[in-house]
Order: sequence, then C-alpha cells, then structure tokens
Amino acid sequence: MRRRPRPLVAANWKMNGLRRDGVERARDLAARVRRRTPKCEVVVCPPATLVHVVGEVLSGSLVALGAQDCHAADNGAHTGDVSASMLADAGCRFVIVGHSERRYGHGEGDTTVRGKAEAAHRAGLIPIVCVGESEAEREAGRTLEVVASQLQGSLPQGTGPANVVIAYEPVWAIGSGRTPSVDEVADVHRHLRRLLVDQRGEEGRGVRLLYGGSVTPRNAPDLLGAEEVDGALVGGASLKADDFWAICESCP
Ligand code: PGA
Repeated sequence: MRRRPRPLVAANWKMNGLRRDGVERARDLAARVRRRTPKCEVVVCPPATLVHVVGEVLSGSLVALGAQDCHAADNGAHTGDVSASMLADAGCRFVIVGHSERRYGHGEGDTTVRGKAEAAHRAGLIPIVCVGESEAEREAGRTLEVVASQLQGSLPQGTGPANVVIAYEPVWAIGSGRTPSVDEVADVHRHLRRLLVDQRGEEGRGVRLLYGGSVTPRNAPDLLGAEEVDGALVGGASLKADDFWAICESCP
C-alpha cells in the first residue's frame, strides 16, 4: 500500500474578487490556520491583481500563495501576460497551468501547457498541471485515453513529488454542481498513478493527484477519501471561507 503524501487543497478564486474581498478572505483563512493546524497543505490562487496583497496577508502563515496561470517565456513582448519569475518574485510558490478554462477558453494545447510548467520550474515554482476530459469525450468512453495523453504531453521532464502537482478536473464537472462518482474518480486517479509510476518509477508514486470540479463541503469527505486522491482544487466553494475550510478539514 502506498504511503499517502500530505494532502493539498488549493483555492482557485478564478476572476473573482476586488481587493477588499480578497484581503478579507485571506485574513480569515490565515486566522483559521493560526487557531488550528490544517490537515493538509493549503494554497490560495487569487487573480493576478491580488497576488501581491493576498501574499502580504498570508506571509508567515501556513497558507501558501499560488497563481492561476503564467506565460511560457521568462520575459519579453507578451502584452497582458505574467511570467513565472514575476509570480515567484511576488511570493508565489505554486502556479496552476493547463486549467480547462485556459485549454478551451484560450486554445492552449499540451505543448503550451508543458512550456508553462517548464517556465514554472525555471522560476522555482511548483506547477499544478490540470488534465480532464470533456463531456463528449466521457460519453464516447475516452476519459482514460484523453487524460493519459494530456498528462504525457503536458508534464515536463524530471518531475517528481517535490516539483509538480497534478489535478484531474473533468471539464463537465467544473462549476456545474455535477461530479463523477467516487469510483469513477478513483479509476481515473489509479490510471494516472500507473502512468506516473511507469514513467518516473518511485518518484511517480509520491506526486500528489488532486481532484477538482464542483467540490463542496458535502461531497469532499467522499472525494478526498477516494483511492489515490491526494487533495482537491476548489473553485466556487473556495470563495466562501466556511466552505473552503470545511473542505480542507475533510482531508483524511
Ligand atoms: P469548481 O471549479 O470547484 O467551481 O467546479 C474547480 C476549478 O475549476 O478548478
């Protein structure tokens, strides 16, 4: 039996919140982790405009700072983009790459996602690499094939538990209130684990595999208890302090 790594629960605030909301939510979370050590590693990924100010609130706390995306280049003429080294400079330790809202909303394929993950590594950040099938792919019975090919195409060389986190997020489950069953989640996670172990041997065993897509305080205990699930990537529910904390506390 694999020794479970320490779970990780990440808040993806997406494009939500002005300074006051973000600071309030971050203060609330920092106070909670001061009162009670969480059962998991906790990461908050605010929108780019709030990275700095939220980072200041979280500094010295047990909550780590992350970002929601980065460019694959270290600097240059990329209007509107942010580089991984800028995020590291602003205090980030993590960055989400390959979220389906980037893959589908911005046409980012595996090669782009891998480039971003490599940029994250160069900057000393831990990329949270997202994979997940669309509803049509699931209905066509292609879930395992799709996530395998995304994993294969998106992961940089030489990844291990210390420098990468993977998030399985079925596209149809994101923000929809629908989730796969616990058995379906466990099937996909077992598959991803097998691929990681085939590719990286022992290193692949310790890489954290998060589940994401409509995680709530109600379904978190089951989803987080599923085989090979090492935490969660939480969107909507991370905007409510009580809900997000309840999810963190649901970790086995
Ligand atoms: P959700 O989003 O929890 O609102 O479904 C998850 C995500 O997109 O990371």
